[in-house]
Amino acid sequence: MNKKRSCLAIILAAGEGTRMKSSLPKVLHPVGGLPMAAHVMAAADASGADALALVVGNGAERVRAALSEVPLRGAPAPEFFVQTERLGTAHAVLAARAAIARGYDDVLVAFGDHPLLESAALIEARARLAEGAAVAVLGFRPSDPSGYGRLIEKEGRLAAIREEKDCSDEERKIAFCNSGIMAVAGGSALALLEAVGNGNAKGEYYLTDIVEIANSRGLPVVATEISPESAFGINNRAQLAEAEAVWQARRRRELMLAGVTLVDPATVYLSHDTEIGPDTVVEPNVWFGPGVRVGSGARIHAFSYLEGATVESGALIGPFARLRPGAAIKEKAKVGNFCEIKNAEVGPGAKVPHLSYIGDAAIGAAANIGAGTVTCNYDGYAKHRTEIGAGAFIGTHTSLVAPITVGTGAYVASGSVLTQNVPDDALAFGRARQTTYEGRGKALREKLSARKR
Ligand code: UD1
Ligand code: CA
Repeated sequence: MNKKRSCLAIILAAGEGTRMKSSLPKVLHPVGGLPMAAHVMAAADASGADALALVVGNGAERVRAALSEVPLRGAPAPEFFVQTERLGTAHAVLAARAAIARGYDDVLVAFGDHPLLESAALIEARARLAEGAAVAVLGFRPSDPSGYGRLIEKEGRLAAIREEKDCSDEERKIAFCNSGIMAVAGGSALALLEAVGNGNAKGEYYLTDIVEIANSRGLPVVATEISPESAFGINNRAQLAEAEAVWQARRRRELMLAGVTLVDPATVYLSHDTEIGPDTVVEPNVWFGPGVRVGSGARIHAFSYLEGATVESGALIGPFARLRPGAAIKEKAKVGNFCEIKNAEVGPGAKVPHLSYIGDAAIGAAANIGAGTVTCNYDGYAKHRTEIGAGAFIGTHTSLVAPITVGTGAYVASGSVLTQNVPDDALAFGRARQTTYEGRGKALREKLSARKR
């Protein structure tokens, strides 16, 4: 039986990212609502890494704060190492020396600005180590190779990686490029990294130099090809948008293959943690912010905006509904057009069909909330709760001045402004009594039109 190989994944996230023209460090720019470096962490985690080491520089504190929260399935929380001077990729990897020195079978190196990196690529690199390679480099064939290091192969093995600035004219024609992702046998890693010098065009310590060093020591070095997507690095916001588009397309496809109908997939925006159950239909132009869970057989009508909300099976949302954080729409409930729900539960089978604001509230099962009902939850200083019992009927255009409770089965007249609790099964009027004067409408018209003449 094969013993599971231990693995350390080092993610370089000390990029300056000046081309993002942003006060936010580059690796924190989101793809699918999650910082791009977190995607790399997730890929490393999914490839079976036992530990993650993040090398940070620019904006270290902010990067650390954001990335230490990233949920991981297998690996423990990441360790952070600060590279104070930016002296090259090998120098950056050595910032994590203490982690490497603990001794792992595999050391993976990846870049924090490759949000489309797939765990399969890392698994592939690790497989080469398991087969006996000391260094395994992941290469790709970009449509335009300029700027990338070229992979120089000789007799089926990888002889060297040459950075473009150091390439001969002949070498520059090579289309097979370095993705930057590498796996190094843990037993050789420190010795190889320490042998790297900085005698190149940029005067940097290049990680890529370990390929020639390993060869000179008779260690086996191989290159494996991965998709250009996995190797796609982000340097500016146009590339960020390209990565977002690829990420969204992948995620939509996964959901569709898992049984979700997206009527016009390209117009549905998902977050990294969006969960949608089978047989749910999502109509065009729907936005899922972070933290949304939708059950099965639900329908999200067009132009709805959801974040931090749960929608249980068979519920109907929208069109033009807004579910804000803490909205919990129970089974077969309905939230119709132009309704906003915040931090509120809409009970099973309950209906909020039109033009309502429901905040800091609980609506019981099968209650009916009339058009234009508003929970007045905020007095300018604090938020207050509204409780509406099961089966209650709230007439159209009611204002519920919280804190307030409307009992089970209670009936509230249209146009009420309620400031007091309504007991179970009671009928409540909270409006002025109507006064009607026979014939006075006509008289008024005559008076007004005479004045106009
Ligand atoms: C690097 C590779 C090149 C490869 C390309 C793929 C080297 C020497 N070159 O080139 O072969 O084709 O990536 O995109 O490795 N970093 C640090 N500290 C440093 C220097 C870099 O953390 O001192 C990080 C950067 O934040 C970035 C990554 O390492 O995430 C790559 O560095 P960068 O300077 O962009 O390397 P390239 O010149 O693009
Ligand atoms: Ca780069």
